Amino acid sequence: MSAKTVLGARGPLSGSVQVPGDKSVGHRALLLGALAEGTLSVRGLSGGQDVASTRRCLEAMGASFQESAGLVSVVGRGLRGLKAPAGPLDCGNSGTTMRLLMGVLSGQAFAAELFGDSSLSGRPMERVAAPLRLMGADIATTAGKPPVTVRGRALKGIRYKLPVPSAQVKSAVLLAGLYAEGETQVEDPFGTRDHTERMLAFLGHPGPLRSDKALTVPGDPSSAAFFAAAAVLVPGSRLTLTRVLLNEGRLGFFTALKEMGGRVSWERGGVHARETVGDVTAVHGPLKPLRLAADRVPGLVDEVPLLAVLCAFADGESRLEGLAELRHKESDRLAGTAAALTALGAEARADGEALVVRGPARWHGGRVETFGDHRLAMAFAVAALAGAGPVELSDAACAAVSYPSFFKDLTAAGA
Ligand code: S3P
Repeated sequence: MSAKTVLGARGPLSGSVQVPGDKSVGHRALLLGALAEGTLSVRGLSGGQDVASTRRCLEAMGASFQESAGLVSVVGRGLRGLKAPAGPLDCGNSGTTMRLLMGVLSGQAFAAELFGDSSLSGRPMERVAAPLRLMGADIATTAGKPPVTVRGRALKGIRYKLPVPSAQVKSAVLLAGLYAEGETQVEDPFGTRDHTERMLAFLGHPGPLRSDKALTVPGDPSSAAFFAAAAVLVPGSRLTLTRVLLNEGRLGFFTALKEMGGRVSWERGGVHARETVGDVTAVHGPLKPLRLAADRVPGLVDEVPLLAVLCAFADGESRLEGLAELRHKESDRLAGTAAALTALGAEARADGEALVVRGPARWHGGRVETFGDHRLAMAFAVAALAGAGPVELSDAACAAVSYPSFFKDLTAAGA
């Protein structure tokens, strides 16, 4: 896809879509698979750039992945099996890669430097470094941001209460805990996603991590959300998203969409590798405005830009509270979402940590600055399909960070 992409309204979407494997689960399968004993057979791994960043960093530390016909075999090196990398580790755009690796590197017998692209280079890392230092880690950030240098040390377990709603912070501490003397406990008053805990349990924790197992990564609900939203917004549509991860901590978007009167439903099909999996169906229909309280944000943190797009199609004022964390994502998503909606003719503004959107918008189309942020690009592609366009995206190719086949899959569904 060229740097500039113009999208317009499209006819009904129908059929079924299998979105790529969940990004959060993918990172953890590669990372914990590499630290386990045995070979983890992973199907359905996200082909996105973020998960590839985790893979590349692990390879630089001696991990090995064999790939054939959609199956990735993660050859476990054991908890102490990683080696010092020859140079700095490139985390690309991926905050999860950097933050989870900070935890793992804290307990190694070597030092490593982590860096990222211009977006990641602006993101806060002290929130991860601080609890790891309490465990004995030696970590230097660059004025709180990447590049980050971690010199492995002997660690001790801690009890830590999360001060920010971040699964990445929680996960970094838990991963460092694998190397620490004594027990590590993280209290999470926010209920952030628990995929690290589930993957650890799947691999046998507490106890040695054993990976002679097969895992099919369920579809990413944060990717499925774009299709569900498109189906609800585009007249005549009906779409089924198959084999989606239905972890309770990730259902916030679908729940909010339902609350808006959106015709969305999901059916749990079973549990695989400790995660709930099932199908999501979405059908076109009208929307009511939404009041979202701050405590619900962790359950849909990556879906807020898309939710704001839906609010602009609803009749009345929506208010989404407690969005401070959005300022620390791949871009400042609070400012970026409000600016993009405004650019297209909608009434939207950031009010402190809240986003206020008044619909239905009098759309006139325009240019959306994505700041290279995949979720902004895909959210406003959906807005375009639903009639906000013509929408020019400053960068559509960044969708590949989490969903390389997004535009192809949309086209196949009828868009
Ligand atoms: C993720 C946690 C969230 C989320 C990110 C993936 C994870 O970030 O936004 O896309 O896999 O743990 P925070 O932990 O910073 O909230």
